[in-house]
Amino acid sequence: MRLLVTGGCGFIGSNFIYHILDAYPDDVVVNLDKLTYAGNLANMQRAENEHGGKRYHFARGDIANFEFVSYLLKEQAIDAVVNFAAESHVDRSIADCSPFLQTNVLGTQNLLEASRRAGIGRFVQVSTDEVYGTLGPEGKFTEDTPLAPNSPYSASKAAADLFVRAYVETYGLPALITRCSNNYGPYQFPEKLIALMYLRASEDQTLPVYGDGKNVRDWIYVADHCRGVDLALRRGRTGAVYNFGGNAELPNIDVVRTILSILGKPESLIRFVADRPGHDRRYAMDYRLAQKELGFEPEYDFTRGIRETVAWYRANGDWLRGVQDGSYLEFMDKWYGGRL
Ligand code: NAD
Ligand code: DAU
Repeated sequence: MRLLVTGGCGFIGSNFIYHILDAYPDDVVVNLDKLTYAGNLANMQRAENEHGGKRYHFARGDIANFEFVSYLLKEQAIDAVVNFAAESHVDRSIADCSPFLQTNVLGTQNLLEASRRAGIGRFVQVSTDEVYGTLGPEGKFTEDTPLAPNSPYSASKAAADLFVRAYVETYGLPALITRCSNNYGPYQFPEKLIALMYLRASEDQTLPVYGDGKNVRDWIYVADHCRGVDLALRRGRTGAVYNFGGNAELPNIDVVRTILSILGKPESLIRFVADRPGHDRRYAMDYRLAQKELGFEPEYDFTRGIRETVAWYRANGDWLRGVQDGSYLEFMDKWYGGRL
């Protein structure tokens, strides 16, 4: 298969490309990435070294650029599109949501339109459990849970999902949607909880925990999510939505304490800070449909996943230093300034 993977220089996209290149020796991947602050060419160095110009091709560009996307689809004889490209950080969407509309909504619609015109055989939209909003203490999100996004980020992802649905219903585009819970693992940008807490704890800096620290997320190791997206790509039904979760519901404070304990750092580094506005209380995924139709099952439990993640960050200090450029520091300062 010849795949166009968008956002392949980000966290999950880069893990997904390695999964494809390692698992399918006949597949070719074209990685379309704009290289925003979250996109990093270094993530794909091994792919370039081992497969560059043969089974792996990088194209810098914007998913919202119709001419460029159409050119790539045709020139590279693409069979399927997997759309990871997005603005992905909830806090940044609270600070300024316009890039989220531009990429997540308009960019996705543009990819859908270009794919429709090119007669693409499969389109996978990588979405999120956040489109369902928040849960109380009981229950899980199913694919039938109504969409009720609470942040500008999740509103933009829900809007994209609705465009995918419209392209299936109106034009018969062979598209489907995957919705996953919180990922962690190698290459995660140090603005998300686990990567940020590792970075700060390892440097003996204070750890900002929002509100009472009891918000719950359902953590999934990134390799498990990538296998899920791959299964949906090869076995999924047009028009379907598939939930993926990690069976690892944990309050944020427990996640932070686990990282401190692995690093042998004191809990006195923790600071409870002002809550995130519109902060969803709890996520949990019912992924029985993906089990039944795709044969999906997460392989990592949290204990194993977090140990491997910490080990990866420890072994990749250069990567972690490299992504903390001026724009990273500026955002961190603006967002957390005065709270720590
Ligand atoms: P990320 O922020 O690490 O990476 C996003 C990538 O997209 C970057 O490489 C960036 O350069 C690229 N990009 C941004 N705008 C672009 C544009 N207009 N054109 C081309 N490339 C562009 O994100 P991530 O955490 O890897 O998330 C990937 C996808 O998975 C997103 O769609 C996100 O909504 C979804 N998702 C993420 C999680 C999670 O826990 N991180 C969970 C469920 C779903
Ligand atoms: O659920 C899937 C979503 O998970 C993805 O769609 C998003 O792209 C991804 O960013 C993630 O969203 P969250 O908002 O859940 O992830 P984040 O890592 O930002 O926060 C996880 C929890 O930790 C959340 O309850 C907020 C809290 N938190 C986060 C940060 C950055 C803190 O307490 N302190 C922090 O400094």
